Parts: sequence; structure tokens; C-alpha cells
Amino acid sequence: MSHNILITGGSGYLGGSLLARWNEAKLPAYNKLFALVRTPKQAEVVKKYGAEPLTFDAYNEAEVWGAVVDNNITIVYHLIAPWPHVSQSYFIKAMAEVKKRTGSEVHFLHTSGAKIFSSHAGSPTDKPLLDSDPKLYEIQKAQQAPFPLMQGAIDANNFVIEEAEKYGVRSYVFVPCIVYGEGEGEGNRISIQTVAIIRAAEGVKRMHRVDTGRPTWPVCHIRDNTNMYLRLIHKILADENPSYGQNGYYLASSGSIAWDDLYAAIATALAKRNIIADDEVITANKQDLEAMGKSLGCPAELVPVMLGGSCTFTADRGSKELGWKALHKPEHILEYADAEVDFILRNKNW
Ligand SMILES: NC(=O)c1ccc[n+]([C@@H]2O[C@H](COP(=O)([O-])OP(=O)(O)OC[C@H]3O[C@@H](n4cnc5c(N)ncnc54)[C@H](OP(=O)(O)O)[C@@H]3O)[C@@H](O)[C@H]2O)c1
Repeated sequence: MSHNILITGGSGYLGGSLLARWNEAKLPAYNKLFALVRTPKQAEVVKKYGAEPLTFDAYNEAEVWGAVVDNNITIVYHLIAPWPHVSQSYFIKAMAEVKKRTGSEVHFLHTSGAKIFSSHAGSPTDKPLLDSDPKLYEIQKAQQAPFPLMQGAIDANNFVIEEAEKYGVRSYVFVPCIVYGEGEGEGNRISIQTVAIIRAAEGVKRMHRVDTGRPTWPVCHIRDNTNMYLRLIHKILADENPSYGQNGYYLASSGSIAWDDLYAAIATALAKRNIIADDEVITANKQDLEAMGKSLGCPAELVPVMLGGSCTFTADRGSKELGWKALHKPEHILEYADAEVDFILRNKNW
């Protein structure tokens, strides 16, 4: 049976960019593309990309069941939220029913995030942690996060893998990192990640680092992130059995950069526009963190979670298994910082 695909989050930064590049990706044949929408305007947008809009509540089990089973959906790309795992659980169960009725293999992709593989989530950070590490599932199972919120996100990754295995659904944990660059969809076009740095600096009129040492974090241009989503679905549609379940982690990243270098590049762009006093990067003290937290709308202790930390998660599976190759080197985010700041300031909504 030819696949029916559902994309969720199509009005978001990642999902909108994915839909915008869908048609030029020349994917192997499938039956139908659906997109979950919440407004009539979103419905009109997704139709332009050849997707049939579906409106249902992704957090209502009966509605998810109806949408998935009635439309024989065999591939779901979930790009709504990395946690809690309520919606994911409804999709997995409904997809198991489609498999039972049609005999077709069914595939569920859960969009997670690099934070869940970082110091903030109790991941090991003393050496590169490969997305292809055969022990990654065990590592995630053993992780103890310092914050309940982050533990919820780790648990969601594990839940998706375990629940999908239980129901005979192939699961993929897709991991975006610091994604940057102008979004290509018609909904949200700004990434959540660089915004936090700009917003905190604008609020206190200085650029601060929030860690000691020179911790690094993986980065990815939005086009490269989109290409990884597309390479994976290409493999699925071509029946080429990309790794799934406990081996189905896919980090989209061209490599890592030091936060300090990113702060410096953004500080230069902000100082040039007189948003902050100068381009110096200074270490935040307790009062600074409190003030930055006010700008970000979060408690001081969460500021380092929003814009710092150490993540040695390293992309390996995409290039080896999917033939994915980044168009942009990690340093591109530094060269692009001025344009990123310009775009965010022109479109900011905080
Ligand atoms: N951007 C990054 O750099 C990055 C990095 C790591 C992880 N992630 C994760 O990747 C996912 C997508 O990120 P993004 O940057 O594309 O986020 P985004 O721009 O905020 O988009 C979120 C999308 O989810 C939809 N959505 C939210 N709640 C929903 C609900 N209850 N039912 C149906 N749809 C719902 C939104 O629809 P509406 O437009 O109707 O609200 C929107 O389409 C998020 O889970 C995010 O945490 C992103």
C-alpha cells in the first residue's frame, strides 16, 4: 500500500520550512500528504504545498484516532512539542491500528531537541556523544535531569521508542539543535534559539556568558535541518529501512561552535545597532541572571538552560545512513549572525 503522510507543526519554523521544500525534494511516490492545521489561513497555506489540511485536536485521543485511522495514515512527522508525550502516545496507538488493518509498515517521527542530550539533561559531556552510539538508548534511560521539565523531555524520547516498539510502529527521534536562518514557511519564520540570546541581551543592555569554560553546542542552518527531515522520509518511502527504535536517533547538525563565539558575534551585531552598550561579553553574576530571566520571562536558574550549557551530541547517522550532507559549515552561524540579528529584530514579537 502506498503511504499516506501527515505533517504536524506545518505553521511552525521547522515544519513550515519543511513544507516549503517538500515539492522540490522529488520524493519517491506516495499516496497523499496531509497537514494538521488549526486555522483556515493555515489550511489555505498547506494546500499550496499540495497537502490536504486536517483539523483535529492532537491532544484528544478519539480525534487523533479518527484522523489517523479514517485516512489510513502510515507516516507521521510530529513537530509540535518534545514533551509531554500525550499526543505522541495517541498517534502511536492509532498508527498500530492502521498497520493491523492494512498490513502496511507504519512510521512515527518524534521531534526532540539537543537540550535533551546536554548537561541540562544529565547527558555525558566529557566526549563526543554520537547519535549513532548503539548505547544511546541506555544512556538516555539512565539520565537524571536537574529540572523536572527536562526529565519530562528525556522520558518522552524513551516513551516514544518503547511505546512504538510495543505497538509495532517504527519510531525515529529527530533532534534539531540550535537551528538558525530565516524560516521558509508562511507561519513562524524565527527560530526559538538565537532569539533567547538577543532578547536577554536587549533586556539588560549587555551580552553575558552564563557558563565557565568554553562549552560548545551543535548548530544547523534551517535548510540543512529541512534536508535531514526530507532525506529520512525519502528513505522511508523508498523502503530502504532507515534505522529506527532504539537505533533511530537522528541529530541534524553540521558541527558545533562555542557559545562564547556565538555571543560575541551577536554582541557585535547588537552593539552596531545600539541595542547594547558595547560588544564585550561578560560573565553573568546572580543579579545579571535575575535581570536576564525577567527579559526572558523565566526564573534566573533557567536562564543558562535557555542560552548556554554543554552539548557534545554529534551527528553521524544522517551522513552515513541517509546520505545527508550539510550545505553550511558550523562557523556559518557566526558569519551569518548580523543577518540573523537583523531579521529577528525586524520581526520580533516579544
Ligand atoms: N527551532 C529550533 O531551533 C528547535 C530546536 C530544538 C527543538 N525544537 C523543537 O521542534 C519543534 C518545532 O519547533 P519550531 O521551531 O518549528 O516551533 P514553532 O515555530 O513554535 O512551531 C510549533 C508548531 O507546533 C504547532 N502546535 C503547537 N501546539 C499545538 C497543538 N496543541 N496542536 C497542534 N499544533 C500545535 C504550532 O501551530 P500554531 O501555529 O497553530 O500554534 C506550530 O505549527 C518544537 O517541539 C521545538 O521545541 C526546535
